[in-house]
Amino acid sequence: MKLPNLVWVGCAGLPNRTEEVYQKKPAKILIKAYLCTTMERREFIKVASAAACAAALLPSLGGLATGCTRPFAIDGGHEGDNGKWDFDEIIDRSGTWSIKHERATEGQIPMWIADMDFRTAPAVSSALKERLSRDALGYTMTPEEYYQSIIGWEKEMHDWKAEKEWVAYCPGVITSINQAYLTFTNPGDSIIVMPPVYNLFRMYAERLGCKVIDNPLLFDGERYRMDLNGLERLLSDTDAKMLVLCNPHNPAGIIWDSEALRRIASLCRQKGVIVISDEIHADLTLPGYQHTPFCSVSDDAAAIGMVFAGPTKSFNLAGVSMTAYCVIPNKALREPYLKQLKDAKLDEAPIASLVATIAAYTEGAPWLLSLREYLQGNVREVVDFFSKQSLGIKAVPPQASFLVWLDCRAMGLSQEALMKFFSAQAGLLLSNGAMYGQGGEGFVRMNIGCPRSIVKEALGRIL
Ligand SMILES: Cc1ncc(COP(=O)(O)O)c(C=O)c1O
Repeated sequence: MKLPNLVWVGCAGLPNRTEEVYQKKPAKILIKAYLCTTMERREFIKVASAAACAAALLPSLGGLATGCTRPFAIDGGHEGDNGKWDFDEIIDRSGTWSIKHERATEGQIPMWIADMDFRTAPAVSSALKERLSRDALGYTMTPEEYYQSIIGWEKEMHDWKAEKEWVAYCPGVITSINQAYLTFTNPGDSIIVMPPVYNLFRMYAERLGCKVIDNPLLFDGERYRMDLNGLERLLSDTDAKMLVLCNPHNPAGIIWDSEALRRIASLCRQKGVIVISDEIHADLTLPGYQHTPFCSVSDDAAAIGMVFAGPTKSFNLAGVSMTAYCVIPNKALREPYLKQLKDAKLDEAPIASLVATIAAYTEGAPWLLSLREYLQGNVREVVDFFSKQSLGIKAVPPQASFLVWLDCRAMGLSQEALMKFFSAQAGLLLSNGAMYGQGGEGFVRMNIGCPRSIVKEALGRIL
């Protein structure tokens, strides 16, 4: 087997819990670093058992003990002067039909819809370019590598061992949740959501004639909790068929702990309620935080849960194609759901989706880890800024994602006046908190997935 030409492995760039694991298991680091190189990776997955490979590569571990502080350096990476990918670079999105930018008026800084103003990981764009350069774009099957990349990613990033048969391609998280509504509910059925929460859960449920029941989050002015006693009451007072969980939570960037998830699972299983767990922001945990996949927390969760996730947010792929996957451990849910996708001809993955997912999940980790550190710097900038100003705005520090939820209630403005303040006076296009439902009034959501200079400029405009 050909050895890769790496390796800079810096534990400082790894996510916290993973970092700990890696320090204890250096062989695993090397395997991971090896997986992050380019072409040999596929061969590696096919032919090598992890143990055999670790043994073969162990002599090269010397560099690990030297305390290098750079993250991985891989072929094709575009590193900036600081030794990392250059997230400070301002990329030109004009003429690219960017929804985020086209909707902003002249001079406004767009900080609303959840995509980032960074280049995607070089490993992803190289893989897409390489595949397109073949000019062979016919109907395409879903290859084994696709499943393995997702299984490997869930295990390495989220410590969840998913079985291959649980995993399937999905046409985007919202389309796929919509298909779950179609599979398991009828018009008139009730679906529970926990507002303030991503608005499309409600919108599509209502479009299908379902009733949406709120189990609002509890906010003490600093942090959010789920109202699990309230959920228990709702479950006994209604005949809800489904609960939609945003895990991690958008708009407030909350990571839910496994104890709360376990309780939800137990309550819902007793009532036969299906839990949809939207985990699209799972890969964007900020350093120090760890995401917990819903179905991993207990047998109850595995019995009633459907996880929807993908590299769309973390690798900034929203415009590439419908790119998502589901993980559904229980066959009794999985089979009717996959039949629904097939009947709607939504089960065939487009080439770009397959290629981007495989590249992101097998070669993109170093880039992503570096991105998370950068985002944490942006979050710090915003939280610091709002802790010092006297307008009465408070930032709720996110634990995941590039979205900052701003509590502006102390400004005493109507929602309309608040939005006007940000758009007309400050020249910032932010998301209106009210659209996330109950508890969103008096809030706005600020997307800080952009170069720090833009974040600073935006903050400067608020004063
Ligand atoms: C929680 C959540 N789910 C789903 C989506 C959209 O996912 P997709 O583009 O895969 O439908 C978003 C986008 O902002 C989101 O924040």
